[in-house]
Amino acid sequence: MLIKVPSDIRPSEITPESVYLNRRDFITSSLGIALSGVVSGLVPQSALAAAGDGLRATAPSDLIRTAPAVWWGPKFESIRPVDINGDFYTSESLTPYRDVISYNNFYEFGTDKGDPIANSGEFKADPWSVAIEGEVEKPGVYTLEDILKPHDLEERIYRLRCVERWSMVIPWVGFPLGDLIKRFQPTSKAKYVEFSTLQDAQSMPGQRSRFTTIEWPYREGLRMDEAMNPLTLLAVGVYGNYLPPQNGAPIRLVVPWKYGFKSIKSIVKIRFTENEPATSWNMLAPQEYGFYANVNPGAHHPRWRQDMETRLPQTLLSSSRIPTLLFNGYAEQVASMYSGMDLSKLY
Ligand code: MTE
Repeated sequence: MLIKVPSDIRPSEITPESVYLNRRDFITSSLGIALSGVVSGLVPQSALAAAGDGLRATAPSDLIRTAPAVWWGPKFESIRPVDINGDFYTSESLTPYRDVISYNNFYEFGTDKGDPIANSGEFKADPWSVAIEGEVEKPGVYTLEDILKPHDLEERIYRLRCVERWSMVIPWVGFPLGDLIKRFQPTSKAKYVEFSTLQDAQSMPGQRSRFTTIEWPYREGLRMDEAMNPLTLLAVGVYGNYLPPQNGAPIRLVVPWKYGFKSIKSIVKIRFTENEPATSWNMLAPQEYGFYANVNPGAHHPRWRQDMETRLPQTLLSSSRIPTLLFNGYAEQVASMYSGMDLSKLY
């Protein structure tokens, strides 16, 4: 994602990927994460536990490091399993938990994929509050407990496609953003929703780096109909457990038909606006990152081919390159929102 100036070239771009991935493994193992010693492959869906009519993914207990507030417990004990016949499921193999939590983009903690897990030790997701602002009847600063209280948690298995050409399949835990939005009663002027991430240079070393090119806080936005689309998820967990800091604890967005950079992490502000909000990557390089950022194999990107993707984990023994699908395979659920729009211009 970085805009390259000479001091800015990432190790992943100058090091052969196999070596780079090995270095990442070294970083995770030095943090006490147990590595099997075997090259990790994808997790077949058959490995998931059956629960009710669906399946439930669970994180390996030796890899869990998050200790959230006590009141979260009951919520996580009654997660609704994913409906395997519904829109929120894919039967594709899951990306192993180990990779989901150790190969991350979270520039607040650094620009390397291993930086977020390595550098988020100071980050605290509790206590947490979210400010609701702008064109709504019920603005205010709400504790996370208030935000979550009326919502049942459910599991959803989504593809995540990064504009950098890699992808994962991740079992998230969360609830529809639309259900939260309805509670705050947006006014008729609310046409967009803007999201902001925590700004705290003390616990987020990337924000105090002198090489940073992002204007903090990280910001993202959706059009109101996109925010209300049933696919749009506010995630508070992954693999049946709480989100670790590097994945956006305690609450993040997941918009599976858009490039991963729209799925903003560690949200502290949701603002309803009349005009399209400014968003971080678009401000940095508008020719590369549009406001819409719908996954589109036909839209040219100057640095990464968008017609193919590498499904992670990529190992020394295998590499899975697959075609990228329009709207990341979610066209049936979302294409109608963009009818009549020229998606090569409104990318
Ligand atoms: N949110 C914030 N606040 N900061 C970031 O740097 N990176 C984005 C997105 N959300 C990012 C962010 C990008 S580029 C991607 S691909 C996804 O998070 C990655 O999510 P993951 O690390 O959980 O896979």
